[in-house]
Formats: sequence, structure tokens, C-alpha cells
Amino acid sequence: MTVAQYFDSMDYAPSKEDDSAARAWLAAHESRFGHFIGGRFGTPGEGFDTVEPATGKRLASVTQGSGADVDAAVAAARKAQKGWAALPGHERALKLYALARIIQRNARILSVVEALDNGKPIRETRDIDIPLAARHFYHHAGWAQLQDSQFAGYDPVGVIGQVIPWNFPFLMLAWKVAPALALGNTVVLKPAEATPLTALLFAELAQAAGLPEGVLNIVTGDGATGALIAAHDGVDKVAFTGSTEVGRKIREATAGSGKSLTLELGGKSPFIVCEDADLDAAVEGVVDAIWFNQGQVCCAGSRILVQEGVADDFHARLAARLKTLRIGTSLDKTIDMGAVIDPAQRARIAGMVDAAVAAGATLLQAEGALPDAGSFYPPTVLQDVPATCAAATEEIFGPVAVSMTFRTPEEAVQLANHSRYGLAASIWSENVNLALDLAAKVQAGIVWVNCTNVMDAGVGFGGVKESGFGREGGREGCFDYLKPRALAKAPERKPVVPAKAKGFAIEAVDRTAKLFIGGKQARPDGGNARAVIGARGEVLAEVGEGNRKDIRNAVEAATAAASWGSKTQHNRAQILYYMGENLSARAAEFADRIVAQTGAKPDRARAEVAAAVSRLFSYGAWADKYEGVVHMPPMRGLALAVPESIGVAGVICPTEAPLLGFVSTTAPLIATGNRVVAVASEAHPLSATDFYQVLETSDLPAGVLNIVTGSADTLGAELAKHNGVDALWAFGSAALSETVERLSTGNLKRVFTDYGRAWDWMSPEAEGELFLRQATQIKNIWVPYGE
Ligand code: NAI
Repeated sequence: MTVAQYFDSMDYAPSKEDDSAARAWLAAHESRFGHFIGGRFGTPGEGFDTVEPATGKRLASVTQGSGADVDAAVAAARKAQKGWAALPGHERALKLYALARIIQRNARILSVVEALDNGKPIRETRDIDIPLAARHFYHHAGWAQLQDSQFAGYDPVGVIGQVIPWNFPFLMLAWKVAPALALGNTVVLKPAEATPLTALLFAELAQAAGLPEGVLNIVTGDGATGALIAAHDGVDKVAFTGSTEVGRKIREATAGSGKSLTLELGGKSPFIVCEDADLDAAVEGVVDAIWFNQGQVCCAGSRILVQEGVADDFHARLAARLKTLRIGTSLDKTIDMGAVIDPAQRARIAGMVDAAVAAGATLLQAEGALPDAGSFYPPTVLQDVPATCAAATEEIFGPVAVSMTFRTPEEAVQLANHSRYGLAASIWSENVNLALDLAAKVQAGIVWVNCTNVMDAGVGFGGVKESGFGREGGREGCFDYLKPRALAKAPERKPVVPAKAKGFAIEAVDRTAKLFIGGKQARPDGGNARAVIGARGEVLAEVGEGNRKDIRNAVEAATAAASWGSKTQHNRAQILYYMGENLSARAAEFADRIVAQTGAKPDRARAEVAAAVSRLFSYGAWADKYEGVVHMPPMRGLALAVPESIGVAGVICPTEAPLLGFVSTTAPLIATGNRVVAVASEAHPLSATDFYQVLETSDLPAGVLNIVTGSADTLGAELAKHNGVDALWAFGSAALSETVERLSTGNLKRVFTDYGRAWDWMSPEAEGELFLRQATQIKNIWVPYGE
């Protein structure tokens, strides 16, 4: 027999990982767990079982976290936080390093417990989940060490509430806990109800590694416990990974609370195969994209888009590969796919597939027998899925890809972006020009070129559109666990009460300022105007009373000005400098206007105008200097972190500094390629309406900056509800912050608000990278590089 014949005749036999240490650990706890609060396990209480998805057998029971449990955990975290944050960065780095080391020393038992509790193959927990989790702690030990030098001017946020899903129980814990602790925060974490065990095991390991009590608290429970954590007054930030539906609920529950929030939500990520792709490599890519972790991956390449000319060949190769996949119980080291999380998820997957088939989709499915017990679903590809089927557009969260074809790269981009999600995209082509062109055009937080589902602690992870906001990993992820000191110390914004009207100023009422929409002055839709009362009670002028229709028109104009985003940075810089120059030429006039509106001393008013000119120059300067970085993850390739504009941004300008507040909030957005709909200072709108003349002489393309006057609360609510607005900056009352956050859930737009704390707009902290970060979202593009 030749060696080749010998290989062909061999069959796989199950090779089971030893689970005795994991079972002994469960037995040591009598398979019953309480919460881990303040450095110790509490007595197990009423709760529920966690089962092995691969067999349906009970593994252990855990306690349902009550309001009192959450109170106790938050109190323990609060008590520990000051001391933890006060440790020198090096001390915290040592603790994070110890956590990384203890994960590595216990990698075997963690891998086994994870595979048992989740149903995923031990090969994946052993080779991916646990090593990557350790890498997160190592990487973030480094940020703790460098915190003082790298994040000067920022403080830890405080107590962080973290709620995680069941698809990567331990890896998600590491993604959340490592940055939080590294930067001086303390944590209350709730694992998913289906997969609580590795979090509890980690709590025990953290204790052994000498983590001070109260720094890490684990409360088990279901969604109700998660909701208690998210809404708790003592929690300063919520970090959530899970479904978009629950993400929306958390956005609403935290609105106006001042809690910072990051949401890593669902996806329906495109997997684009161009006709010049290495088809065998792309087929292997599909295996990693949609059959890794049974497809229960938020960034799974679940929408295959294949170019028409190679579609038949590609599907034939895919069908052949599908047949070779082995499905089995999680501890079998020879399998490719394990069980899905539970019978309910299996039923949900089957329901979506059956509905697609009933509607005419073609089914390609592995035919081998599945294990008798447990929740298994075969690897599946659906072709010709009608666009109206949920399977075509919704996250299936199972081993099911839908496949469709495209004719041209432009059509691929259109199909790829035709989704409410924007988490990831994978592009397969041997043509570097084409691949990078597509990478620039797809709307996604992560793009993989000729690879898929690769991740690293040093590279940010997170989405755009309804896939959420915030990044996890790398320097950019650290900022989500920090708060700017200047804002935290800022006083509460005082409402500006206009003086009582005492008659008209000379040349007043015949000068009614219109709105500025699409590069033109436009009458307000309602035909109404409001008087602007000066500091001495005189009516200075009237301005238009903008309404919902005006906001719609302004958003439409901003949407149409999309080409601003693709202008060169140099071009944007020039225009901002030119705006500064033109404002400077009218400095005296603008200063007089500030005096008339606010009653400021002339010197103060002149200083505000000078600061506004300088700020326009600053953002002109930043326009070609706010750049991305090149990450060098420990694998073959680079990740290019490119800051991209968000799109259409609404801005509610602060009342207090009519000119400088307007410039400070609109210029960073314009500099980074966004288009803006600004609502001028409600009490003192004339500095913004006077600015029309600056805009008309500065070559800013029509629609890039639109200005509406009227009620900040009313127009802020309209901007928050508008699904064509991608980001909203609101600098008004605390009530306005609550309104805009609550109403932003339609398209989960990014909201930047100061919760009614007034910046000192003259100070250097009111300009620069903090604003530029809010004006951009990072796209991480993974490209092959080197050997
Ligand atoms: P889920 O979003 O309900 O659960 C995720 C976590 O949130 C769990 O820890 C859960 O206990 C908690 N939770 C639930 N309701 C909450 C609330 N109101 N407030 C705070 N926390 C709450 O996801 P689920 O039910 O486990 O899965 C349903 C579907 O969601 C899946 O079929 C999948 O499509 C999607 N999903 C997406 C994930 C992703 O990473 N993109 C992860 C998990 C689920």
C-alpha cells in the first residue's frame, strides 16, 4: 500500500480530551455556585442549571442575581475603585500580567470547561479562545504600565457594568475585563445565563493571582439581572455585547444617566469572492467565516457574495468541502463543528432556514449523521434566498450562510452595504488594487483582505451602523474606559434666560435671518420667526423658527454632499483655513454681535472671536494630521487603522459661547469629512446666522454645513429620531441629553453629549483629539504583508 492509499483508507476515530480536572473542579463546588462579590463566593441561591449543549446533561447550577446582589456587587466595586485607580500603573500592570500568566497555567481546564459549557470544539477553545484571552491581559498590562504617559488628562471612568453573551464566554470576558482593570476601573460582570462557568472559574483564578477584593465581581443571572446592572445608579459605564434588540433597550435604560456606553451588537457581514480570487483559499475562508463556532459569531461572514463568472465553480468546491466537515461533541479533538448553544437557538436557526426553503431558496447541507443527543445543526449554505426572507437580512447566528452573486465590483459594494448592520467584511481577490478599493467602500468596522475572523488584542474591534459603537482592543479601545478630566470637572451649564424684551434695536425686525440649507439661505418651512433679545432687552433681530421639515431638508442637503468625505485632507484643510481668514476679516463685526447678544465685555468678545479664528486654523491643521496607525499583530499581516468620517452629524450648539461654541463643535466634524446640520445657540443665534457670509465666501461645498435656528430641545429631538443622521452632538441641558440619547435608538446613532456640563470653550481642552475621535470611526483593515 502506498502512503497515499494508506491515508485514503484511514477513517477518523473520536479522540476525547480528558475532562477529569474540569469535573473535579465542578465537584469541589458541589456543582452549585453563588455570586463572586468582594473577593469571595456567596452561598448558592435560587437559580437555574447550565447544561452541556453537546449532550443536554446538567453541568452545574448558578444563582439568579437579584437587586440586592447587584447592589452588593456595585458597592464592593465602588469601595475598591479608588484604591485600585490610585495604584501606580506598574502595580496594576503586574496584576494584569499575573492574570495573563494564571490563564496560561490553567489553559487546559479553562478550555475544557468552556467547551463543555458552550458546546464548541475543544480545538477552538484550546487554540483560539483561551490563548487570545491571555493575550488580552498581556496587551492591557502594557497599557496599565504606560497609562500615565499615554493617557494624560484622562481618568478611569469608575465602576463598569459588563454584560456579555454566550458565544465566546471567556474571550468576551477578557475583552471587557482586561481594559477596564488596566486603566483603573473596577467591574461588575454578568456572564450569559447559558455559559457562566468560565467566568466563575476565572474569579477563582483572579483571587489566587492576588487581585484585590472588589476589583472584579461576577454576578450570574439572566436578562433581568443584566437590566439591573445596566440601570444601576452606582454604575458609571455599561459595556455590552449581544443582540441589537437588547442593545437598544440598554441605550434607552441608560439615556441621560451620564453613564458612558459601548455596544457591540449583531452583524450580517459580507464575504465577497471576486472572480480573480484563489477559490480554494476562499472556500477555506468560508469554513472559518461561518462554521467556526457553529456560526455563532457576531462578525461571521454570513452573506457570501460571489462574482457571477466563478459562482458555479465556487459553489461546487464549497459543496465538496462541506461534505468533509466533521460534527461532534465538544471534547472530541477531531471535529470541525460542535453543538449550537441550546435547543431554542437550534429551533430558531431551523425556522429561518425552513422559511427560506419554503420561499424558494436552494439548500446545500452536509448530510452526515449528527450526534443523537444535544443541539446540533448541520453546516448549511442557502442560495437564491428571496430578499424578503429574514434569512437574507437578519442575523441567523448559526452555521448558515446565504450566498448570492454579483456582476461588477460596484454591485458587490451595493449589496454589501445594503444592510442595517456594519460590523465586518471579508474580501477575496488576488488583485491588491481591487481588494483595497472594495475595502475603502464597504461600510464596516473591520475588513479582512484574503482572511477572515482574525482578531488581536492590539487591534480595535467594533462596528458601524446598527452593529453598535465603541471599539474593544488597542489604544482606541482604551479611550472607552477613560473620561476626560476637563469635562468631569466642568460646572453645570447655566440656562441662559434672555432679558425681557424692551422694544427694538435700530435696523432690527426687517432683518430676519433665514436658515442656511444646501448652501443657500432658506425660509423656515413653518414661516415663523422668533425674536432674538439682546443683553439689554432690545430685540436685535428675528431668526427663523425651524421645525421637523427644516431638519429633514437640512439632512437631505447634508446627505447629498457626501463627496466631502472623499475630498483630500489637504483640500479640507485649505477650506478651514480660508474660513478662519474670512472670519478674521470680520472680527470686529462678530465681536460687536457677541457684546450685543450676551452683554460680554468688548475684550472678552474680541477674545472669543480670536479663539474661533484660531480654532478654525487648528482644525485646518488637524485635517491632514489626524491619521490612522498601522498595527502589527502577532500573525502574518498588518491591520491598517483608518479613521473614517461617520456621515451626517447633527450638532446642538451650546448656548453659552455663541460663536466659539458653534465653531468648536462643527469644525472638527467638517475637518474629518462629515457633513453637519447645526442648530445654532438657542439664546444667541446671530453669531451663527452671521456666519453664513463667511461660508458663502469660503468655498465650502453646498450642504457640508447647514444651519437651523429655533428650539434646541425640539430640533434636538428631531435630529435624534432621524435615521439619516449618523451621529449627534448635543451640548445643552441635562434634559436634552436624556432626550437625544433615548430617541437615538432607531439607527443607534452615536451620541456625544456633555450631560449639561459646560465646557470652558476658551480652554485648550475644548479642542483637539477628543473631538476628532468623536467625529470619526476607525475601520481596521487586515491585509497580508510579509512572509
Ligand atoms: P441577548 O442579547 O439577549 O443576550 C446577551 C446578554 O445580555 C446576556 O448576558 C443576557 O442575559 C443579557 N440581557 C438580556 N436582556 C437584557 C436586558 N434587557 N438588559 C441587560 N442585559 C440583558 O442574546 P440572546 O438572547 O442570548 O440571543 C438572541 C440572539 O441575539 C441570537 O440568536 C443572536 O442572533 C443574537 N446575539 C448576538 C450576539 C452578538 O455578539 N452579535 C451575541 C449573542 C446573541
